[in-house]
Amino acid sequence: MSADVILGAQWGDEGKGKIVDLFSEKYDVIVRYQGGANAGHTVIVGSEKYVMHLLPSGILHKNKINIIGHGVVIDMEALAGEVKGLRERGIKVSPKNLKISENASIVMPYHKMLDKAKESAKKGGEKIGTTGRGIGPAYTDKYVRIGIRLRDMFNPAVLKAKIDENLSEKNFLLKNFYGVKTMTAARILSETKKYADVLKPFMADTTGLINELASAGKKILFEGAQGALLDIDYGTYPFVTSSNPTIGGVMTGAGVSHRIINKVWGITKAYQTRVGNGPFPTEMDEKNGAKTREAGGEYGATTGRPRRCGWLDLVALKYVCDLNGLSDILLTKIDVLSIFSSIKVCTHYMYKGKKITGFVSDGGELYKCTPVYRTLKGWNSDLTAIRDFKSLPAAAKAYIEYIEQYTGVRVSIISVGPERDQILKR
Ligand code: GDP
Ligand code: IMO
Ligand code: MG
Repeated sequence: MSADVILGAQWGDEGKGKIVDLFSEKYDVIVRYQGGANAGHTVIVGSEKYVMHLLPSGILHKNKINIIGHGVVIDMEALAGEVKGLRERGIKVSPKNLKISENASIVMPYHKMLDKAKESAKKGGEKIGTTGRGIGPAYTDKYVRIGIRLRDMFNPAVLKAKIDENLSEKNFLLKNFYGVKTMTAARILSETKKYADVLKPFMADTTGLINELASAGKKILFEGAQGALLDIDYGTYPFVTSSNPTIGGVMTGAGVSHRIINKVWGITKAYQTRVGNGPFPTEMDEKNGAKTREAGGEYGATTGRPRRCGWLDLVALKYVCDLNGLSDILLTKIDVLSIFSSIKVCTHYMYKGKKITGFVSDGGELYKCTPVYRTLKGWNSDLTAIRDFKSLPAAAKAYIEYIEQYTGVRVSIISVGPERDQILKR
């Protein structure tokens, strides 16, 4: 049995989409296990750009099984739109190559309304800066056991009862607490049913299927969304998402045993970005931030928001390595750092007057940490055409080796551009 995991080792947008697409060639099955349409995974193939929000990034490859596990919260309109969009571009999406868990929770229209209403009711510094995709409210309902699952969409009596139960509470909140428009059951039913019908042919018992495929010796790749520092339990709470992008999410979100997992790849940029609010100790000053944003095209793939840019935070990365048992680091976007003649990495924090090397995951406390940097030499030369480790400039090799030395985890693959072939192995 052989399954590997790709997960984000920072605050998301590390380049997971590119890597999953690239790796998919060697796998039979690609599985999304958590998150929702808050994700935006970019895949560049020649002049074509694809952004996957809910579909696994293996979907562009022929003869692969792509699975959306039950830990994902599904925005049916977004997913139906993605399927349609890909089909229009000549990509085959059929019940043979796409399976959606019948037990996955649905993001209902009122979740998106509540997400936006909650955010706009918060004062400046309290705002999370969510994607507005209804993620928090959808997971809330799942955990308070009033969520609607994909299977419920095809059981009219259950669906009507659940929508009524939900609306009696949600409408009260929307009207009396947030002072926004309410919704009717009839409108929700008519709005959601058409998308549910599009998705019905893909519905499956994905837990049974994944375990069957694993037993049959098929190679499985788990595709994380978001990143470890956005994890609801281990991230910079409360400035996090509402799912588990960390390793445990694979087991609970796909329904598999840890025993089938072999490699755990942590995807990390050679620097750091964050979209949305929350502490970011290594955030660059305005000038360097803007320079990095332009060089790295750091704009949200889902919301288009400019991403905040910072220096690589090794304290955070080491925490993520240990937390997830990373077997390998896959370093992306090192080509972007070519703009700097010297590069800083954070090796410690100053916290309450003391030098510390452990990560501070509490969002409020992390604001009180000041980064301590080590400055490494830059290389100031274009890396995008390099295809083997040996040909990298000495300063770039030293940068990579420093990351390995600090984290104790091997950087075994390096990405030097958005295209499939812009990759080098050690
Ligand atoms: P994801 O959410 O982790 O899949 O990452 P995103 O797709 O949101 O953002 C990563 C961006 O960086 C995308 O625009 C990719 O095309 C791009 N990208 C991925 N790897 C590299 C790389 O090594 N170098 C450069 N310059 N761009 C990359
Ligand atoms: P991918 O998979 C980067 C961030 C939001 C916000 C916080 C909570 O593309 O790496 P949410 O809508 O989830 O309730 O927002 O999490 N966020 C992401 N940041 N990449 C993502 O996904 C993200 N998904 C959510 O910006 O700060
Ligand atoms: Mg992204």
